[in-house]
Amino acid sequence: MLKTRNCGELRAEHDGQQVTLAGWVNRRRDQGGLIFIDLRDRWGITQVVIDRESAPNAHAVANEVRSEYVVQVSGVVRVRPEGTANDELETGAIEIVSDSMLLLNEAKTPPFYINKEDRIDEAVRMQYRYLDLRRPKMQQNMVLRHRVVKAIRDFLDECGFIEIETPILFKTTPEGARDFLVPSRLMPGHFYALPQSPQQLKQLLMVAGYERYFQIARCFRDEDLRGDRQPEFTQLDLEMSFVDRNDIMSLIETLMTKLTEEVAGRELLFKPFMRLSYPDAMDLYGSDKPDLRYDLRAIDVSELAGKSAFSVFVSNVEAGKPVKAMRVPGGAKDLSGTALRALTAELEDIAKRGGAKGLAWMALPANEAEEIKGPIGKFFTVDQKVELFGMLEAQPGDLLLFMSDTRKVVQNVTDLLRRHCAEKFDLIQTDKLAFAWVSDFPMFEWNEDEKRWDPSHHLFTAPMPEDLNLLDTDPASAHGSQYDLVCNGYEVAGGSIRIHDAALQEKIFGLIGQELEHAREQFGHMLEAFSFGVPPHGGIASGIDRLVMVLAGEPNIREVIAFPKTQTGSDIMAHAPSLPDAKQLKELFIEVHIPEEPKK
Ligand code: AMO
Ligand code: AMP
Repeated sequence: MLKTRNCGELRAEHDGQQVTLAGWVNRRRDQGGLIFIDLRDRWGITQVVIDRESAPNAHAVANEVRSEYVVQVSGVVRVRPEGTANDELETGAIEIVSDSMLLLNEAKTPPFYINKEDRIDEAVRMQYRYLDLRRPKMQQNMVLRHRVVKAIRDFLDECGFIEIETPILFKTTPEGARDFLVPSRLMPGHFYALPQSPQQLKQLLMVAGYERYFQIARCFRDEDLRGDRQPEFTQLDLEMSFVDRNDIMSLIETLMTKLTEEVAGRELLFKPFMRLSYPDAMDLYGSDKPDLRYDLRAIDVSELAGKSAFSVFVSNVEAGKPVKAMRVPGGAKDLSGTALRALTAELEDIAKRGGAKGLAWMALPANEAEEIKGPIGKFFTVDQKVELFGMLEAQPGDLLLFMSDTRKVVQNVTDLLRRHCAEKFDLIQTDKLAFAWVSDFPMFEWNEDEKRWDPSHHLFTAPMPEDLNLLDTDPASAHGSQYDLVCNGYEVAGGSIRIHDAALQEKIFGLIGQELEHAREQFGHMLEAFSFGVPPHGGIASGIDRLVMVLAGEPNIREVIAFPKTQTGSDIMAHAPSLPDAKQLKELFIEVHIPEEPKK
C-alpha cells in the first residue's frame, strides 16, 4: 500500500509513530516557513505540517501543490501544541510532522469546491459526478447505502433466504409503466423488454420450490421522472411460500427497524409501525402515502356541521358531501387581526387550488375572555362549539380549518393543507422516521380512458379471500391482498399475496380486459407453471434508493445514487442516451424516423 494509515484514524495515542498517508489536498495554508496541508481520503482529514528548515525537499513539493492534488506524505504523528487542537476534526488532536512528500498527480481547478458545503448547480454536479462524489457528504451517503444493502443481505441470509439473480434481458412485465425495449440482432424485428421488476420470475422461483428468495434487483421503468423516481432503480425484491401477509409484514418490519436504528442510527416514531387502511389514509390524510411525522388530520364533522346554521355545510351534508375539520396546533397563536386574515387567505388559496370553493376557519383565542374569530363561528351554537372542540381536541391558540366538497376534493385539499401547514408551522419531527403500513386497497381501479378495470397493484395480486365471490358480482368492492409500506411521505415498499391458481388468474385477466388469447401470449408461461403444483406465496419489493434517501434525510433519490439520470432521463457526464452508428442500426434492421416538430 502507498499508505500505512488512513486520514481518519490517527489520535493522540499514536503520538510519536512514523506513518505514511496518501490522499487529496483538501486545503493548503502557507505561513512562509511552515506550510499546513489538510490531507483528505475516504476516511477523514488529517493536518500535515511541513517545515522549510527541517524538511526542505518536502517543503518544496508542498509549495507547488494546490487543492485536489494527490500526494503521499510520510512523517511522525505529534500531539498538537496546547491551544491548537481542532475539535471539529476527528483527528483534530494530532498532526503529522512531514519529512517527505511525493506528488502523485496534479489537478485542474475543480468547477466547484469539494471542501465546502456550498449550494452547487445540480447540472454541474452531474457533469462532474466523480468530483461531486468526492465530497464527504456524498461519500457518507454511498457508505450508508452500502451498509444498508449489506445489512439486508446478512439479515435475510440468517432468515434462510437465498439471493438468486434473474435476467435483465426479458419480456414485458406488468408493473404499469412503459417498457424499455432492446432490439434483438439474432431475431430481427424482435425485442427484449428490460424488467420493470422481477415479479414473474420470483413467482416462478416459488413454483420451483425455493420458498425464500430475495434479490437486490435493478428495475427499469420508462415513466416521467420526479424527485423520488428514476428510470432505473434498485429494489430489494423478496418472495416467500406458505405465508400470509402478516408473515411478510412482520419480517419487513423487523428488517426496517434494524436498518433505521442499527445501521442509520435514526429513531422510529412508531413502534410497532402504524397500520392504516387505505380508506382511512385517504380520509384522514388525503394521501395513500401520508407523512406521519406530523399529526395533522381531517376529522369528519359532517353530522354536527349539518345541524349548524351555515347553509353551505347544511346543503352539502344533505347532498352526501362531507364536512371535515383540521386542527392546526398553535396556528392562530399571537397573530394580529391582519396577520390572521393574510394567513387564512393564503390557506384558502391553497384549498381553491385543490378544487375547493372556499375554506372556512375558526381561530381560537389564547385566553377565554376573547372571542373566537372567523366567518363561521356565528353559525354554531355554544353547545355545538363545545362538542366540536372536543372532537378535535382543540386547544387555545389553535386554528381550525373546515373543508366541504366531494370526498375526492376534500381529500385533495387535506393533502395540500397538511403539507403546507406542517412546513409553515414547523410541525415536522424531522429527526424521526414514521413508518406505516397501508392495506385494504381496492382490488381494481376503473380506467375511464380504456373503459376497463386496472389492477391497483399488479395482475398477480390475489383478492382478499373473503372477497372472492365479489369478483363475479361487484368487482369494484373487492379488496386486494396488497400492502404498502410508507415512510415520511414516500412509498418505500409494496407487495401482496399472489394468485396461485390458474383458473383464478385467468378470471382476473378477463376482468381487466386482457383477452384470454392475448394473456396466454403474454403470460402463458405463468399460466402453464400454475398447473404444476404451486405453493401459496406472497412477497414484497422495497425501493432501496427511496429507503436510503429517507434514512439519509435527503430530499431526492439522486443524492443516494452514484450515477443518476437527470429529470429528462439523461446522463450529462457521459452523454447518454446517444445516437447509435448507422452500422449498429443496420445490424439490427432498424431505421429511425424522427418526426419533425409540429410548427407552432
Ligand atoms: P412496486 O411497483 O410498488 O411493486 O415497486 C416497489 C417499490 O419500488 C420503488 N419504486 C421506485 N423507486 C425509484 N424509482 C422508481 N421509478 C420506482 N418505482 C418503484 C418504490 C416501490 O414501493 N413487483 C412489485 C412488488 C411485489 O409485489 O412484490 C413491485 O415492483 O419504493
Ligand atoms: P361565505 O358565506 O360564502 O362568505 O363563506 C364563508 C366562509 O366559508 C368563507 O371563509 C369561505 O371560504 C368558506 N366556504 C365557502 N364554501 C366553502 C366550502 N365548500 N367548504 C369550506 N368552506 C367554505
